[in-house]
Amino acid sequence: MTTRTLQRVIPSVATSDGAGVKLRRSLGASQLARHDPFLMLDEFYSDDPDDYLAGFPSHPHRGFETVTYMLDGHMQHHDSGGNTGDLGPGDVQWMTAARGIIHSEMPQQSEGRMRGFQLWLNLPAKEKMKPAAYSDVPAGAIPVATLDHGVKVKVIAGTLEHGGRKTAGPIQGISTDPRYFDVHLDARAVFEGAVPAGHNAFLYAYEGEAVVGEDRKALAHRAAGLLSDGDTVRIEAGEKGARVLLLSGKPIREPVVQYGPFVMNTREEIEQAVNDYRSGAFAKEPVRRIKVAQPGPA
Ligand code: CO
Repeated sequence: MTTRTLQRVIPSVATSDGAGVKLRRSLGASQLARHDPFLMLDEFYSDDPDDYLAGFPSHPHRGFETVTYMLDGHMQHHDSGGNTGDLGPGDVQWMTAARGIIHSEMPQQSEGRMRGFQLWLNLPAKEKMKPAAYSDVPAGAIPVATLDHGVKVKVIAGTLEHGGRKTAGPIQGISTDPRYFDVHLDARAVFEGAVPAGHNAFLYAYEGEAVVGEDRKALAHRAAGLLSDGDTVRIEAGEKGARVLLLSGKPIREPVVQYGPFVMNTREEIEQAVNDYRSGAFAKEPVRRIKVAQPGPA
């Protein structure tokens, strides 16, 4: 058994996207700041509606998946397939843009506050042009594993293995085999969980402080901490507890050519995406809505 160590830190930078939504970007802040298959992680949080109400008006995506996880406030969603949705606190939208979707994502406050994450997860070449689909995952369909000694884990995607038990999240069966866990630790609590050897993994502490691995390296607040290979992850919270996203996935190991919201393998495919979007040939088909299964034992 090998416990992963903290190998590289990608600090988050303050930026804005869409029509001026203020956010912090760690992964994806530059082309060198990716962790295959993960392309980008944005955290948005504010008590000031001026920071986010302009939202992300109509925009396209092709070639990857976007995962939106709300902690506070709402995100209203409309897409080119005529679907509408309203993500509330704790809800997740797992959208496979694949060959194309045009949508708008408009944040709404609840009691002035809005907080959440958007992750971009790459698709392998053979899946980049499959039909678009998405799952709206209500908070109630996301199981919470209560571990020993003050640790709770919300299992959004993949299966959590801990102490001989398994907790399966609602999102399964994706070829990059992603695990997306939101780990809540009380003061000084320790989380130890399995992550398959060979998968790329990273952490993002959005509340409190933590140390990682047997050598107890400090995980900076609001930075992506990329982990070495291994089959176990160990996180220990500081005096005030911590909340940490733990993400892992199977690397795709293909060239990545990105132009804004298009992520393909070659420049020619990017040009095709831009031409399709400009000519109106983009996202003409219905967007499949996938029913999310209720949680149960793996
Ligand atoms: Co979008």
